[in-house]
Amino acid sequence: MLENIRRIKNPILRSAAAASLAFSIVTIVSSVAIGLINPKNKSASGIGVYSSLLGTTCGAIFGLVLTSKPSQERSVSTEVTPNSKIWKDWRNFVVVRKVKESEEITSFYLQPEDKSEIPNFQPGQFLTIKLDIPGQDKSVIRTYSLSDYPEPCEYYRLSIKREPAPQGLDVPPGVASNFIHDRIHEGSIIPAKPPNGKFVLDVKKSIPVVLISNGVGITPMISMAKAVTRLKPNRPIWFVHGARDGRFHAFRDEVMEIVQQNPNLNVHFRYSRPTPEDEGHYHSIGYVDAALIKELIRQEAEYFLCGSPSFMQSIMQGLKESGIPDNRVFFESFGKPMKGTKGSQLPAATVGEEIEEAEIIFAQSGKTLNWKQGDGSILEFAEANDINPPYSCRAGICGTCMCKINSGEVAYQEEPTATIDEDSVLICISQPGSSRVVLDI
Ligand SMILES: Cc1cc2nc3c(=O)[nH]c(=O)nc-3n(C[C@H](O)[C@H](O)[C@H](O)COP(=O)(O)OP(=O)(O)OC[C@H]3O[C@@H](n4cnc5c(N)ncnc54)[C@H](O)[C@@H]3O)c2cc1C
Ligand code: FES
Repeated sequence: MLENIRRIKNPILRSAAAASLAFSIVTIVSSVAIGLINPKNKSASGIGVYSSLLGTTCGAIFGLVLTSKPSQERSVSTEVTPNSKIWKDWRNFVVVRKVKESEEITSFYLQPEDKSEIPNFQPGQFLTIKLDIPGQDKSVIRTYSLSDYPEPCEYYRLSIKREPAPQGLDVPPGVASNFIHDRIHEGSIIPAKPPNGKFVLDVKKSIPVVLISNGVGITPMISMAKAVTRLKPNRPIWFVHGARDGRFHAFRDEVMEIVQQNPNLNVHFRYSRPTPEDEGHYHSIGYVDAALIKELIRQEAEYFLCGSPSFMQSIMQGLKESGIPDNRVFFESFGKPMKGTKGSQLPAATVGEEIEEAEIIFAQSGKTLNWKQGDGSILEFAEANDINPPYSCRAGICGTCMCKINSGEVAYQEEPTATIDEDSVLICISQPGSSRVVLDI
C-alpha cells in the first residue's frame, strides 16, 4: 500500500492518498476501541473524532514528504560497484548463450561460474579473457569490448569477429578468435579479468555524442548507445556505422530497437557494397568518412571512434581539419596502434635495441627473472610469472601499463600512441633493450 502511494508522482495527490489512508486506519481503530470500551461515553467519541483528524493531518504531511523512489534503472547503473562484486585477477565464467550476429561476428553471453553477482561497468570498457588453446605453449590472453549494457548487470556479452589470415600473406588466421568461434560453445568455461578500459562514455554529460564505427568496431558503440538511452535519454546521439553489406552488418535489428526507445538517437548505416536484398536497410552507399560526419552533425559534440585503423585515421584527420579539438575526440583501436595519430615522443634514455636475452628485475614484486626472445612483451612475461601489472589496451594506446624504469632500456615492438612520461616505459609493447632492466613493478 505504502509502495503504491510512493509511486504517485503528484505531491498533492500523494498527500491526499496518504491522508485518506491514515483517516481510514485511525477511524476504524478508534471506532473498534470505543465500541469495546464504552460506546455511550460522549467524550470517548470526541477523542475518536480528534484522533481521526490528527491522523489525517499526519497522513497528509507524510504523503507530502514521501518522495517517489528514483527508478531502479537509473540508480543501479550509476552507483559505485560494491567491492563485494569486484574480483581480482581471473574468475571463471560460463558461456550461457552463443548467438551469431553476422557472417563474421558471434556473441557470447557470460555468467560467473560461482553464480554470485558481477559488477556493472562503464560503457566502452572491455573484458580480458584467457584461453588454453591446443598447440599454444601458454595461455592466450585477449581483450574484447563489452557489447551490451544489461540492466540489471547479470551477464557480460562479448561479440567476436573471426579473424581470417590477411589476404596475400601466408600466415595462420587469428588464434583466439577462430578458437572461440569453433571451440567455445554454451557451457564452456572462460576465465576473465574484471571490466577495464579508459575508452568510456561519461553518461553524466549532456553534450551531444557521435558514435562512429565500422565492422566489429560497433561493439563498444552498442553499449554506449544503450547506456545513454537508459541514463540520459535527452542527450542527442548519432550512431553512424559502416559495413560491407547486410550480411556483414551485426546488430542492425538491435540498434533499431534502441531507436524505438529513444527519439534522440539518430542512425546512419552506410554500406560499401550493398546487395539487392539490402534495399531499405541502409541510408547511403560508400565508406563512412569525414564528409559524411560533417554533413550529418552540425553542432558541437563529442566523437567516439572505433574501427579499422585506416577508417579511424581518415576520420580523425577530417575532424581535425574541421576544427574539432582533440579533447572532443576519443578512439579505440582493436589492433595495432594507428601510425602517426600522435607524435610519439619516446624518451631516448629508455629506448634500446632488440636483444636475445635479459635479466629483468621487478623491484616491487621482489622477483629477478631471465627473459629471452619468444617470451613476448614485458607485460606478457610478467603475467606468465604471476606478476600482474595494470594494463588496458595492450597495444600502446592507453598508457595504463606505463611504469618507471629504474635502470636499463627497452625496445619497442610497435610505435606507441600513448604519451610516455620521463623515465617510464609501456611494457605491453616493449621487450628488454639492455641485458639488465629494473622496473618499478
Ligand atoms: C581494447 C580492445 C577491445 C577489443 N574488442 C574487440 C571486440 O569487441 N571484438 C573483436 O572481435 N575483437 C576485439 N578486439 C581485438 C581482439 O582483442 C583480438 O585482437 C582479435 O580477436 C584477434 O585476435 P586473434 O588471436 O584471433 O588473432 P591473432 O592471432 O592475434 O592474429 C591477428 C591477425 O594477425 C594475423 N597474423 C598472424 N600471424 C601473422 C604474421 N606472422 N604476420 C602478419 N599477420 C599475422 C592473423 O591472421 C590475424 O588476422 C579488441 C582489442 C582491444 C585492444
Ligand atoms: S596497456 Fe595500454 S598502453 Fe599498455
